Amino acid sequence: MRKRYFCKRLNETLDFDALKVFYCCATRTGPSIDIPKPDKVKDIITKRNSLIKMLDRGDIPEECQGCFDLREQEKPKNLLFSLFSKPPKAKMIIVKHFKQCDCSCIYCCEQYLSGRKIVLKSKKSDYYDLLPIIKECYKQDIIDKKNLDVHFQGGNVSVLDEFEDLVDIFMQNGVKRVEIATNGIVYLPKIAEIADKTFVDINISIDSGCRETFKKIKTVDKFDDVVENLKKYVKLPVLLRLKYILVRGYNDNKEELQKYINLMKEIGITNSELMIDQCDKEFLQDGEFKIPEYYYELFDFYKKECLANGINPTIWEYIEEILKKGSFFK
Ligand SMILES: C[S@@+](CC[C@H](N)C(=O)[O-])C[C@H]1O[C@@H](n2cnc3c(N)ncnc32)[C@H](O)[C@@H]1O
Ligand code: SF4
Ligand code: SF4
Repeated sequence: MRKRYFCKRLNETLDFDALKVFYCCATRTGPSIDIPKPDKVKDIITKRNSLIKMLDRGDIPEECQGCFDLREQEKPKNLLFSLFSKPPKAKMIIVKHFKQCDCSCIYCCEQYLSGRKIVLKSKKSDYYDLLPIIKECYKQDIIDKKNLDVHFQGGNVSVLDEFEDLVDIFMQNGVKRVEIATNGIVYLPKIAEIADKTFVDINISIDSGCRETFKKIKTVDKFDDVVENLKKYVKLPVLLRLKYILVRGYNDNKEELQKYINLMKEIGITNSELMIDQCDKEFLQDGEFKIPEYYYELFDFYKKECLANGINPTIWEYIEEILKKGSFFK
């Protein structure tokens, strides 16, 4: 019998990026559709539904070939039945249709679009307004309201004019979880406003534990501001996570990692995430990004020191996969 497939991400995700809407998260270059307009919301959904049906028939779209998220259906429904059943509603919305930022991290994967320009005042996205599109998605009833998980990425939301209005529309519609990735340079009062009304996850990429290293990596002298803001966020009923991206030649050593862990302890932050710079071209060898041997030592050191200091040392499952494999990207 012919194999039939499904992809949980495709069934659940709408990832609004600057130039396209993707149907899965940023770690894949999966199927997509060009920049949407409110009157084209139908097209976004029509294309997604046709991809879901394609997999259900056993045809794999070119962009999904070889993807480790693609699954074979264990108990496929009768094809005729599945043709008439309703396609799933979106459960995850990723907001990254803007690239402006109030710093310019040397490692940032998104800065090629913003030209590394530092933007200090809130402004419109250079690409499109998302608010009218989200309103239309709700109107067309294609969002699973009660189970919706929203991830704000970017750019940095502190300089996005629509940020608060977007949070409001998701809140008015009963969003289940709001995740905000930010550099923490500017305090976001909206977070305190929604903190006890839904599940809020803030992750702040500080990538350092001292002013000098922060300045070298983020290219702005704002370490002290971030620390002050962290002291305010830590008091809120939210999941606060601090993030450290290992950047070759800047913070890829035990001393810097120790300073970062000490800082978390001092402020009282108990969740951390360690990442690898995925845009480091020096990793490239024979078409693959090879993980250097000493990174394994750093990950071990990180886990040990975090645990010794009562900190939860999260490593994203995607990074765990990469570490196991020793390399990433085809
Ligand atoms: C592009 S940023 C946007 C949100 C926010 N400005 C921030 O820095 O958290 C989203 C996430 O991507 C991560 N990121 C950016 N460039 C990366 C890279 N080269 N390797 C790994 N993660 C990266 C950031 O650390 C951040 O957690
Ligand atoms: S199979 Fe992979 S590439 Fe295709 S939609 Fe799912 S996650 Fe994206
Ligand atoms: S703060 Fe975020 S968006 Fe801004 S440059 Fe750094 S990683 Fe990129």
